[in-house]
Amino acid sequence: MLSIFKKTGSYQLSVLLVGLVFTGLIVAGCTQKPAKKQDATIAPSTTSTVSAEKGKKLYDTRCIECHGRNGKGVPGDAPPLQGLVGSHVKLTDGTTITADDAYILQSIKKPDAKVVKGYNVMPQLGVSDADAKVLIEYIKSLK
Ligand code: HEC
Repeated sequence: MLSIFKKTGSYQLSVLLVGLVFTGLIVAGCTQKPAKKQDATIAPSTTSTVSAEKGKKLYDTRCIECHGRNGKGVPGDAPPLQGLVGSHVKLTDGTTITADDAYILQSIKKPDAKVVKGYNVMPQLGVSDADAKVLIEYIKSLK
């Protein structure tokens, strides 16, 4: 009598354990994977869209007077910024440079370091690093 009771007890315990392990696997499977997928696919694109929008607001208050609406440029005044990334820019020192992030950042922060041929030097505007970053996102979004 006693041994039957013992057997039933350990049987119930193992059913309970198997049940717990399965529940654990299901919970882990449901909660972790979708969360990771969302991080990888949605986050980066929304971040750069938000930055580009912030950059547009800054551009429209601080840069538009010289570089024109949507970075189209103003002949004789300031060069276009549309399509700047990856393009070849002729400088006053006779060299040609391929415009990348670093070049655009320097053009904004230290305009006299490299001057585009055919224009006066852009004035030093005291743009912060954070503002320069979103302005670059905006410039890259111009097509
Ligand atoms: C007072 C007019 C003026 C304002 C305001 C101005 N720029 Fe410029 N910018 C220029 C001129 C002129 C040049 C070309 C000469 C040079 O390279 O310094 C230039 C060049 C540049 C270049 C390099 C373009 C190329 O073809 O290589 C970038 C990038 C740029 N400006 C970004 C900006 C941004 C961003 C702002 C706003 C924060 C701004 N500029 C405000 C006049 C201006």
